[in-house]
Amino acid sequence: MSGVSNIVLVGFMGTGKTTIGRAVAQRCGSRFVDMDDVIVERAGKAIPEIFRDDGEAGFRKIERKVAHDLANESGLVIATGGGVVLDPDNMADFTRTGTVICLSATPEAILARVQHDTNRPLLQEEDVLGKINALLEKRRALYDAIPNQIDTTLLTTEEVTDRIRALLSEPAGA
Ligand code: S3P
Repeated sequence: MSGVSNIVLVGFMGTGKTTIGRAVAQRCGSRFVDMDDVIVERAGKAIPEIFRDDGEAGFRKIERKVAHDLANESGLVIATGGGVVLDPDNMADFTRTGTVICLSATPEAILARVQHDTNRPLLQEEDVLGKINALLEKRRALYDAIPNQIDTTLLTTEEVTDRIRALLSEPAGA
């Protein structure tokens, strides 16, 4: 890998990865890539259909390959899928070639953002807030392990974008 590092946005569903990623890419003049879009393109079907036909394991397998391939590119702003943290190899790849930033939000804010969405198979439950809390609990340590953190609950897209630009000039631990 050579060239400019990637900017990799990680975080639970509904924390703003895609919206913020687009805004950051526009501001930096970089190319924006949404991992879920690449997965859909490669699989030739929508995310709910991948989960239905191949299960979550099938989805994770494609996600793993896409993470590996995108990490080998440079100068990208990448919005990952919320479950990318589940495979440590994904995180190792992204950390090696980019700055990883974790976005977070309260469960209530997440609920408000994802409530009417039918494209997230893991949240097609009667008790969506309960499922959000359960998944967040299961993944908390994985998200918390990322040094760069931004809570997007009360921030505008512009404010988050500003914080990301500030982080990039002075990353955590620098
Ligand atoms: C998932 C998050 C989704 C998508 C898939 C699984 C997860 O992406 O990759 O439905 O496991 O958290 P978003 O975080 O972009 O919604």
